[in-house]
Amino acid sequence: MSIWSLVYASVASRKMTDTDLKQILQVSRRKNQDNLITGMLLYMDPFFIQALEGDISTLEHSFSIIKQDPRHEKISIIYKQPASERIFPEWSMGFNKFEQAHLGQIEGLSDFLQRPTTEFLVDSSNRVLQLLNLFRREILF
Ligand SMILES: Cc1cc2nc3c(=O)[nH]c(=O)nc-3n(C[C@H](O)[C@H](O)[C@H](O)COP(=O)(O)O)c2cc1C
Repeated sequence: MSIWSLVYASVASRKMTDTDLKQILQVSRRKNQDNLITGMLLYMDPFFIQALEGDISTLEHSFSIIKQDPRHEKISIIYKQPASERIFPEWSMGFNKFEQAHLGQIEGLSDFLQRPTTEFLVDSSNRVLQLLNLFRREILF
């Protein structure tokens, strides 16, 4: 099975509470486990960044459902490539909130605060991958 990796950014339709986020995660983890999808979801009000990895057909099917979810909009693909291995093999969906402080840890990413748009994230794909990497071994809930 060849693994593909897809990373996108989106804007939450409204402010997400921890309960909202836990609800998304509960369903995502169950379905991803069945679909052999792994990944990481990051939230910084109002943005989501999500990495999904798995078999290309399952990944595309799952992403087509996620894209239509009314809880977020302005979905923009940042990265879609075949991957030599999974970056998040241990998470059916890891989760963390990224804070402004995290942006400062990555060269050039603090400029995001001057231009907080999904387009900025699409233009900064390498930096977004570094940001996801920061959370590789961390999970909030
Ligand atoms: C930001 C966000 C991330 C999501 N991530 C996933 C995911 O990784 N896997 C998944 O199956 N569903 C994910 N969902 C939920 C799906 O959009 C959808 O609600 C869920 O798969 C429901 O499936 P069902 O129609 O089979 O009940 C996500 C939703 C949002 C808003």
